Parts: sequence; structure tokens; C-alpha cells
Amino acid sequence: MLTFKDKVVVITGGARGMGHVESTLFAEGGAYVAICDIAPEEGDQSAAELRARGLEARFFELDVTSLENWNRVVADVLQWKGRIDVLVNNAGMLFRKTIQDYAESEWKRVLDVNLNGTFFGVSCVAPIMQKQGGGAIVNIASNAAFSGHADPAYTASKWGVRGLTKSAALEFAAFGMRVNCVCPGLVVTDINRHSPHLRPMIDMTPAGRAVEASEIASVVAFLASSASGGMTGEEVVVDGGFTAGAAYWKVATQAGLYQEAKR
Ligand SMILES: NC(=O)c1ccc[n+]([C@@H]2O[C@H](COP(=O)([O-])OP(=O)(O)OC[C@H]3O[C@@H](n4cnc5c(N)ncnc54)[C@H](O)[C@@H]3O)[C@@H](O)[C@H]2O)c1
Repeated sequence: MLTFKDKVVVITGGARGMGHVESTLFAEGGAYVAICDIAPEEGDQSAAELRARGLEARFFELDVTSLENWNRVVADVLQWKGRIDVLVNNAGMLFRKTIQDYAESEWKRVLDVNLNGTFFGVSCVAPIMQKQGGGAIVNIASNAAFSGHADPAYTASKWGVRGLTKSAALEFAAFGMRVNCVCPGLVVTDINRHSPHLRPMIDMTPAGRAVEASEIASVVAFLASSASGGMTGEEVVVDGGFTAGAAYWKVATQAGLYQEAKR
């Protein structure tokens, strides 16, 4: 297990879903975890659950789309623990609509949360890490950052996160900072639990199943740790082989060339 003893880790969207699982893994590794989210009840509960296990976590209310919020939360985390070693830009959302159905306000909201929120996070935390002489930022993109996806705003935002990750990696490399992104495939959380795409997506995945949130969290932890010290500006796809060529896999499977994964 990777250790984060006494490291200060900030996780956006940390109250639920993958963010919650990531917060738990970092806390179990010895980190002080700042769980940041727009959902105060779930965030407080998530932090309290970890503290009840003797782990270190605190909830900070944050809407990632607000620069003012970011400045406040960064100041509060610094007051709490005096430094920030890891930032995980995990907060995200989608509406699952077509281009023709997207309202302007919805389009802007998705770009605001997924892309602008990530930019604000990087730009507010980078000066702190720079002053400290290092740090690791892990952005959560998606395997939708490699192809088209049925939500155009989501697709655009996640391609943007991939690009932002590379630019940030270049800009901050001289200061001992690393910036990478994780591109998950289907993980069953509140974002998609009731989606009609769920079953067909699993049917198109070579591994024959959704990815577990814990399997994303372990990659996030790897990218946040010194075990990945030589990596920056990279994207790591964790999607059960979907991006490797789901369409070719389906064709070869239907032709009897490959075996179906056991379900
Ligand atoms: N679940 C998947 O299949 C999947 C696949 C690829 C990428 N992702 C990405 O993983 C990340 C986590 O998704 P999840 O599946 O855990 O979703 P989720 O809906 O379970 O969790 C998202 C969290 O982000 C928070 N959030 C939303 N808007 C926010 C804002 N403006 N400010 C602060 N917090 C905000 C929510 O309150 C929630 O706690 C997202 O970036 C998502 O796009 C998810």
C-alpha cells in the first residue's frame, strides 16, 4: 500500500462516488484529507465517518466553479495544516443530452464544473506547491476524452481537462510539481446509476464489467505518490479495455475469434 503519512490531500467532489473512495484510500494511507464539495451534508458525513475510524479528514464547502470559493478553501486548508501536497480535481457532472437539446445554461454549467473548476483548482493550488518545492495534481478526465461521447458538453470538457493537464505539466515541471490525469471508463456511481447506457456499455467492454471505484482510486493514489515520480503530463486510461478498441473486440467476439468475458 502507498503511504501518504502527514501529506495534505485536497479532493474536490470528495463527498460521494469516486471522490469518497479516493478520500478514504488517502486517509487510510495516513494523509490529512480535505474533502471539498458542494454537498455539505454528505461531505460532513463522509469526513465524520473517516474520523470515527481514527483517520484524518475535514469537510470544506466548495463550489469548484467559484474562484472566490477556491481562494477561501485554500486559505482554510492552509490554516488547518499549513501545506497542500496533493490536489485531486475530481468534481464533475453531465446532463446526458444531445447538441440539439442542450440549453445554453446547461452547456455552460458542464464546462464550468468539469473544465473551469479544474483550471481554478490548478491555478489556486500551484503557487502553494511551487513555494513548498513540489506537489502532485491528479485531474479526473474520462475515456470520453479520447472519442466522441453521447454528451457533447461532457466530451468537450474532458478533452479540455486532458489538454489542461499537459499544459500544466509543462508549466510547473521546473518547480518539482507533477500534473497527470486519470481517464476512467464506466464506474457505477450516482452520475450514471439509472442511465439506460449502463448495460450496453458493459456489453461493449472487453473486461465484461464496470470498473470499481477502488480501481480508479488506486491509480489516483499511484499518480499522487512518488512511485510515479517520473510521470507528468500523462493520462492513464482505466476502462476495462474499452478504449483499446471496443468495436474491434465486439466484432472479433461475435465472429468467434475472442471469448466473451465471464460475467
Ligand atoms: N462514473 C463514471 O462512470 C465516470 C467515468 C469517467 C469519468 N468520471 C468522472 O469522475 C468524477 C467523479 O464522478 P462520480 O462518478 O464519482 O460522480 P458522482 O456524481 O458520484 O460524484 C461527483 C461529486 O462531485 C460533486 N460536485 C458536483 N459539482 C460540484 C461543484 N460545482 N463543486 C464541487 N463539487 C461538485 C458532487 O456533489 C459529487 O459529490 C467526475 O469528474 C466524472 O466526470 C466518472
